[in-house]
Amino acid sequence: MARILAVGVATLDIVNSVEAYPEEDAKIRATAQRVGRGGNAANTLVVLSQLGHRCQWGGTLGSDFAAGLVTEDLKAHGIDLGACRAYREGRTPTSYIVHSTRTGSRTIIHYRDLPEFSREDFARIPLDGLDWIHFEGRNIAETALMLQRTKQAHPAIPCSLEVEKPRPEIESLFGRADVLLFSRDYAQHQGYDDARAFLQYLRPRFPHADLICAWGEEGASGMDRQGKMSSSASCPPPVLVDTLGAGDTFNAAIIDAFLRRYTMEEALRHACHLAGMKCGHQGLDFITPPRASGS
Ligand code: ADP
Ligand code: FRU
Repeated sequence: MARILAVGVATLDIVNSVEAYPEEDAKIRATAQRVGRGGNAANTLVVLSQLGHRCQWGGTLGSDFAAGLVTEDLKAHGIDLGACRAYREGRTPTSYIVHSTRTGSRTIIHYRDLPEFSREDFARIPLDGLDWIHFEGRNIAETALMLQRTKQAHPAIPCSLEVEKPRPEIESLFGRADVLLFSRDYAQHQGYDDARAFLQYLRPRFPHADLICAWGEEGASGMDRQGKMSSSASCPPPVLVDTLGAGDTFNAAIIDAFLRRYTMEEALRHACHLAGMKCGHQGLDFITPPRASGS
């Protein structure tokens, strides 16, 4: 069991399932609705916690009814909320999600009006004893300072960075993390239609880091610090139920794998296996805890 801190967002997710994704200006009926907690860093922690790790969240909370739902869910997953910061009058970031039951795809409209976790919030967290810190690639100037503090004061703690969306100056973070987790969306914005070609392009620019790029139903590729490229096919579930949080699950599994000292190839296989398993289930509670011996 490792001690893991993740810095990033927790959200309220309102998920409407529809038979097929609608045309613009259509009026259709949802076949089901689910309201729950989401957010990339929070989702990643929920999976890591099910994998047996001790998890802590660094993020901001509102004070509306949804903030209660978010904290209850994180607590129910055993996640330490001691480092989070609550804003009086703050509103929980909300995602309105259309889930197509025909394809399993999820289309997300996200609204936020809540301050981000700051370097001062981060400075209050004792980092001694942590085995891993995961950051979302957002709130760039502050995240750069959080990474800088970590690397100066605790150079041995591995740091991962999720790069989901192109954001101004996001590249300034890449030199500061040990594991860079890119999305297909980001690679495509850089003009690449293939994960391996994208990683080849990045390699000389960021030689110090393990580079990983997930590519939805096509699986994922990674290049380790020695320059060895590996890929894994995806592991489609028997029935595709819900892809929301597949990327967050994939990231959790990569962190878990590196903590277990897996090779890049093993880590990618592990991550595609768990992310595929998640796609066969609604929500993120899809890992059966190991049975206690003798039971
Ligand atoms: P997200 O869009 O949630 O950020 P991705 O689409 O990049 O995440 O997928 C992350 C991982 O989840 C992929 O590498 C793959 O292993 C798994 N995955 C995603 N979609 C599917 C799918 N339709 N079938 C099987 N596995 C999938
Ligand atoms: C899934 C997710 C949702 C959340 C949105 C935030 O990856 O974390 O739970 O609403 O993305 O970007």
